[in-house]
Amino acid sequence: MIELSPQGLELTQIIPGMMRLDTWGMRGQALLDWIKQVMGMGLTSFDHADIYGGYGNEALFGDALRIEPSLRHQMQLVTKGGIQLMHPNRPDIVVNHYNTTAEHLIRSAEQSLLNLHTDYLDLYLVHRPDMLMHPSEIAEAFYQLRNSGKVRHFGVSNFTPSQFTLLEAYLDFPLVTNQVEFSVLHLDPLYDGTFDQALLSPYAPMIWSPLAGGRLFGATDDPQAQRVVAVLEEVAREVEARDIDSVALAWILQHPSNPTIITGSGKIERLQSALNATELTLSRQQWFRILVASLGHNVP
Ligand SMILES: NC(=O)c1ccc[n+]([C@@H]2O[C@H](COP(=O)([O-])OP(=O)(O)OC[C@H]3O[C@@H](n4cnc5c(N)ncnc54)[C@H](OP(=O)(O)O)[C@@H]3O)[C@@H](O)[C@H]2O)c1
Repeated sequence: MIELSPQGLELTQIIPGMMRLDTWGMRGQALLDWIKQVMGMGLTSFDHADIYGGYGNEALFGDALRIEPSLRHQMQLVTKGGIQLMHPNRPDIVVNHYNTTAEHLIRSAEQSLLNLHTDYLDLYLVHRPDMLMHPSEIAEAFYQLRNSGKVRHFGVSNFTPSQFTLLEAYLDFPLVTNQVEFSVLHLDPLYDGTFDQALLSPYAPMIWSPLAGGRLFGATDDPQAQRVVAVLEEVAREVEARDIDSVALAWILQHPSNPTIITGSGKIERLQSALNATELTLSRQQWFRILVASLGHNVP
């Protein structure tokens, strides 16, 4: 477990992400068996969002949890709200948009509690910055959800450092994380101030699409991915890693902000590769060889 921030929330360093759960073909008891197997590997934190699986994945997970409710207190549940996606189940939504009003965020978190079959969330995140957001609205939602005991900790996702600072100015408690995209193929948080802010706050960032959503694999017409895979293969041999996945994830974990990684696969062997990554250490030069391959040029 790692402490996300001095506020005391602890999550596992590897966090199974539930965005693709509906495509894994597991329901009810089979999904419960998978959850128990994963928890047996020490992975007890799960990342959700209201919109995943066409607004259906939280309920799939909750239906499994309903079979053995005592598991709830051995796991940490993270979910997000604020995105409104068009979907046949939601005919009221005629255009993809964001809604970070207090009313919407509270309703959305309460619906997540019902879906997940729980009476509290360990961590609730605003999924994306909303062009029309006012921080006082988000703060009101957070205070109400916290005072009612429905949510224990709060954070954001995909926020710029200035948006993060703006929201925190309206709260009398710190945000515990910013969940952002980062991988050997997506370098933005190294350059846009996100990781600097994580170190300053301090908080541990949560990393999504840590394998670039699968772009690393079978990328025959993707020069950046080809360059990076070639170096990952070299480094994997040097550090005797089982596969390039664990090297790509170890590269993320090596950042001093102490990130957590949200995995995207339901396959146990891929979760094992992620766990293996926590045991790997890359030399500074190995780390920079991977960076340089991704950039396509030397650092100055
Ligand atoms: N906050 C946000 O805005 C946001 C956005 C996106 C995602 N997320 C969170 O982040 C989690 C992870 O995102 P992600 O699914 O994009 O993560 P990812 O781990 O980068 O990508 C997962 C994809 O890579 C494939 N893959 C993994 N290892 C592979 C290998 N060795 N060979 C071939 N394919 C491989 C998986 O296929 P298999 O299924 O076949 O293993 C899956 O399709 C999500 O579940 C969600 O919880 C958050």
